[in-house]
Amino acid sequence: MPELAYLNGEIMPIDEARVPIEDRGYQFADAVYEYLASYNGRLFALEAHLDRLEHSLGALAFPALDRNHIRNAILTLHKRAAIARSGIYLQISRGVAPRNHPFPVQAAPQIVMTVRQLHPTPPEYLRDGIRAITVTDSRWSRCDIKTVQLLPNVMAKQRALEAGAQDAIFVSPDGVVREGTASNLFIHAGGRLHTHPLTPAILAGITRAVLIDSCRKQAITVEERFFDLHELMAADEVVLTGTVTEVLPVTQIDGQAIGNGRPGPAAEMLRTQLEALAAGP
Ligand code: PDD
Repeated sequence: MPELAYLNGEIMPIDEARVPIEDRGYQFADAVYEYLASYNGRLFALEAHLDRLEHSLGALAFPALDRNHIRNAILTLHKRAAIARSGIYLQISRGVAPRNHPFPVQAAPQIVMTVRQLHPTPPEYLRDGIRAITVTDSRWSRCDIKTVQLLPNVMAKQRALEAGAQDAIFVSPDGVVREGTASNLFIHAGGRLHTHPLTPAILAGITRAVLIDSCRKQAITVEERFFDLHELMAADEVVLTGTVTEVLPVTQIDGQAIGNGRPGPAAEMLRTQLEALAAGP
């Protein structure tokens, strides 16, 4: 069950994989990524991740890549690693070229991946929920594109840890609640789930999408609409969702308890749905 790297078609140990220093991902953050996971040796929502990758590549005017080629690369690496609960990180940069802002004429996209063991969420996070802080969203206006320019996310996460919290929630300068540093956000209020609509201000999370779909199939209403900081703090429950996060209750924000300060039934319901989906048909 080795953790492995993939570098433009070759599979090798992670510490042997090297990328040239003039890779545009390294110099300009001119690269997109995906992060997908397997449950019990089966990749979760692979086609949805490929759809989003195509969206990111298209939005940045990367040359069209062969979807079958990328799918096969992911499947090959995943099979070779044979890790039951793995996380696959895939990054595609615009290529390697002497540093110059315009798109290089000759460079070919660089495709790199790693596959690693994914560790379970600490049980106390599920039992007690996590603490979060709010931070002003200073990201660019195209958060729907999954680029590697993640400094605002990195800074926000670090600020959360230094404040004794586990994560940060981005809130726009005018008070609209967006998402977590690597997760989408739902609130449960007035007996219903609510989450930010799909706009360029957030990432179209795959976990978000599969959960909304699953809820609607069971006649559970999910409203995709904007809500502000005031509604967030007054919610009965706040829940983060993502490939690594899965479904995580947030029970304290900026030092204030959410609802009764304990994980609630909405978080439990969403987690059960995700577990059922991950277990497969
Ligand atoms: N991030 N929003 C942001 C800003 C994210 O970075 C992520 C995922 C999500 C959730 O998307 P999904 O459900 O498709 O994982 C939402 C990955 C896991 C990461 O950066 O590691």
